Amino acid sequence: MGRYLIVAGLLLYSLISTAQEFDPYPPTAIPDRIMLNLTSSPSRSIAVTWRTALFVDEGFVEIAPADPTPQFTENAWAIEADRSTLVSDQYAAHYFSAIIDDLQPETTYAYRVGDSLHWSEWNQFTTASKDEKPFSFIYFGDAQNDIKSMWSRAIRGAFREMPKAQFMLHAGDLINHRNRDSEWGEWYYAGGWIYSMVPSIATPGNHEYGRDKDGDYSVTEHWNHLFTLPENGPGPKRFDGTTYYLDYENTRIISFDAPAFYRSEEDKRILVDWLTKVLQNNSQKWTVLTLHYPIYSTRFGRDNKELREAIQPLLQTYHVDLVLQGHDHTYGRGTNMPIGMEHILDGPMYVVSVSGPKMYDLGFDAWLQRAGSNLQLYQIITIDGNAMHYQAFTVDNQLYDAFELYKEDGHNLFFDLAPSDRQEALDLPPRYDINWDKDDLKDYHSRFKDYLKRKKSDKKDSSGN
Ligand SMILES: [Fe+2]
Repeated sequence: MGRYLIVAGLLLYSLISTAQEFDPYPPTAIPDRIMLNLTSSPSRSIAVTWRTALFVDEGFVEIAPADPTPQFTENAWAIEADRSTLVSDQYAAHYFSAIIDDLQPETTYAYRVGDSLHWSEWNQFTTASKDEKPFSFIYFGDAQNDIKSMWSRAIRGAFREMPKAQFMLHAGDLINHRNRDSEWGEWYYAGGWIYSMVPSIATPGNHEYGRDKDGDYSVTEHWNHLFTLPENGPGPKRFDGTTYYLDYENTRIISFDAPAFYRSEEDKRILVDWLTKVLQNNSQKWTVLTLHYPIYSTRFGRDNKELREAIQPLLQTYHVDLVLQGHDHTYGRGTNMPIGMEHILDGPMYVVSVSGPKMYDLGFDAWLQRAGSNLQLYQIITIDGNAMHYQAFTVDNQLYDAFELYKEDGHNLFFDLAPSDRQEALDLPPRYDINWDKDDLKDYHSRFKDYLKRKKSDKKDSSGN
């Protein structure tokens, strides 16, 4: 009898362990996945979203100006949040979303979320200034794979490098399988309470997209349950939270839903018309565009020609300063024009980056001015009046690339500040040595050599020799 009990106990234990492995991020009464998002007026409002188990049927945000005394809570007021239900591949859960309005610019607030029985901790955030003050933000290319295991060091390293960053920007492919709740669970595990303190904005990638139950190519249901992003896009509901813009102090930031561009001819037209209007009616000093598919690719054999032909002329005409992209799992930045001796730019600086561990091969196309292969990176971008300072760090917190743009007489002056003591990492990720045949490897090395030759001659030209 005793033996049977032991066997039954072991069986039960193994069932529970398997279930735990399969279901690692269950919702509970305690709010989790607490996410701050920027709104379209970041000096006056902020959005907060969180998740609970289904039996929690109401949600509130309590908010107060932060002060150093524990009595700050006496000044708190409460807002009731909207509730929605998401049935994922793992379980059903409630998501709560609230936009906190009527805030003062450049002010630190403390807030907590809950249902009056189960509360989160008090978190703090600071609203944007209504004037032109220096600010910084963090940019991540694709996180996508092994998010808990390998991307945690990217977001935590970035936070450690720039804890006062005013927001984070995710350039798509945050996860690999759009509807797999455990991957979103990993994404929240990695960022944890950073998301509750530093607001995020995000643009979707192809891995957030797929066919929904009606057969339409659409963004995962998770997207608008997890995030409360601006809904000032082209109008149709399918663009809510994926195509939007906001003005952060002196900078317009635009999210362009690149996967939706390829959905239909109608959506192409809608997106391009919308982008044209948002760029035309823009009095901000700086303009940053984020979209998942690169205008100029870094990976060999990739080329988003139709997208480029549709929007690159707009970026040039309306003086977009910086384009932040993902998708190619390599690093590259450049202007696609000879920089020349004057160092005056006549178009945006394009960046492609990757923050997760999935690595591809570089194509070494002519637009690239600094490239990187087999590196996880994050970027810190600071805007200070007429200067934009860009730094790319590898996830061991070492500077890999840097440049500055400076506005003068209607142009951007460019200063290349890439660290001279850090060579470009251009070797193939190791798996290519196994997966590629000799001819592929030969091609790669010849492209690699051409790139180095070209860079050498560019350097010569720009130094006037
Ligand atoms: Fe992608």
